[in-house]
Amino acid sequence: SDLALDAVVDLDVPGPTINRHLYGQFAEHLGRCVYEGFWVGEDSPVPHEGGIRLDVVEALRELRVPNLRWPGGCFADSYHWRDGVGPREDRPRIANVHWGDVVEDNAFGTHEFLALCELLRTEPYVSANVGSGTVQETADWVEYLTRDDDAPMARLRREHGRGEPWPVTFFGLGNEPWGCGGNLRADQYASLARLHSTYARDLSGNTLQRVAAGANEDDYAWTETLMKQVSQRLGDEEPAPLFQAVSFHYYTIPGTWGAKGSATDFDHDTYWTTMRKAHRVRALIRGHSAVMDAYDPNARVALALDEWGTWFDVEPGTEPGFLYQQNTMRDALVAAVHFDAFHDNARRLRLANVAQVVNVLQAMVLTEGACMLRTPTFHAFAMSAGHQDASALAVHDVASRGTRAVDGTDLPTVSTSASVKDGSVLVSLTNLDPAAPARVRVALRGGSVMPDGATVLAAPEGAGSDDAVRAHNTFDAPDAVAPRELTTVSLTTTGAQSTLEATLPPASFATVRLALT
Ligand code: AHR
Repeated sequence: SDLALDAVVDLDVPGPTINRHLYGQFAEHLGRCVYEGFWVGEDSPVPHEGGIRLDVVEALRELRVPNLRWPGGCFADSYHWRDGVGPREDRPRIANVHWGDVVEDNAFGTHEFLALCELLRTEPYVSANVGSGTVQETADWVEYLTRDDDAPMARLRREHGRGEPWPVTFFGLGNEPWGCGGNLRADQYASLARLHSTYARDLSGNTLQRVAAGANEDDYAWTETLMKQVSQRLGDEEPAPLFQAVSFHYYTIPGTWGAKGSATDFDHDTYWTTMRKAHRVRALIRGHSAVMDAYDPNARVALALDEWGTWFDVEPGTEPGFLYQQNTMRDALVAAVHFDAFHDNARRLRLANVAQVVNVLQAMVLTEGACMLRTPTFHAFAMSAGHQDASALAVHDVASRGTRAVDGTDLPTVSTSASVKDGSVLVSLTNLDPAAPARVRVALRGGSVMPDGATVLAAPEGAGSDDAVRAHNTFDAPDAVAPRELTTVSLTTTGAQSTLEATLPPASFATVRLALT
């Protein structure tokens, strides 16, 4: 058969919920992410609300961003939150030693971040400073954010103009403590995380999900050290675990750390290597999950991939410390591969944050002065929003999966996942092959369905195979890569089974919607 994918989905066997927080975003004080990307200031000619630019907010609302992680990243472990509250003219200037060594004026602080979350209708993920901060700073910040009475920090917040506390969902206990967050050993960090977690209290009815800063890539020993702390307190009679989530970070870097490769100028071999590396996220999620299963079989503690995405060389001529890179169809396909891995591992993996939301690494939007564009990755997120809080449906491959030998491994050339929610089925289909279309067939059993639309993201029709993966949006042509209707799709029903068949263009990501009848 010429089918690149021949699969079966049982509609009446819903799997775990795909937590909406798997579609989280990340905004660090890094380059032009917070400053310029979100914050333009109250005197800016760019349309804004309270200094926060509205074009970016309006675009991101299309993604239904479930949570936003801030202020870092490496920056979090040098950030002292008191520098960013109170009258702006009184705030101290600080050096951002991690990212370009630029001096910041702290115009964007706690109140501005929470105002941004309110504008985006998203839940905050605040990361504490464990590397260079104190436990008292952590305790005070939580009190400032969430306490609703006359306690000292709640009173200070009121003096700064905010009466009600904010609901805060996630609270990170430092970041990359094995590196920029202190060069700590796992056992050193575990002790510090226990301490900060204890003083990051649930106040005034707010319940924090505390995220312990986890491993780099496949450092499973780090995860095990953290899970040992948690398991001492797990069990039916025990109080809630010290941390509600353990994170890890994994970036897709086609080359080496020193020469990562261009975001837009790459050959087919580099493209396929990028896809192989993106696929690795699946093995990493499973590896960390297996360690956690041994200590927490009921999955009370979540796995969080709170930094992921492509990392290329910066755009020529831009400041190396600002991590500004273009974003092509290759990036969108990397995202699609990640989403499928997330959906397949949704029982344990319940939080993820792409790095980063605007102007940094694998961004959703890019800005230049008053202009803004949506990247191909933006569109992949928008097309996948229907998976948020849906039940995962296993896609059983029965035959003919296309594969390609890449760097000595067999890489599937089609990636897929499916979910169901409120009578609506969403099937994601990705063809990684830049040189050939892919024919796919999915048999749908255990329910009857009607077609409800299909969308595809790919380079403009007629693009050659190089352009199929390098296609991107520019400020001159901001909609060169944009979703369009997928017309090469059909649904036939015979007896109790429907069959979805589609031809996916080269290097494309498609979503097919079906209504349960
Ligand atoms: O996202 C950029 C940086 O990558 C983050 O600050 C850090 O946590 C990671 O190394």
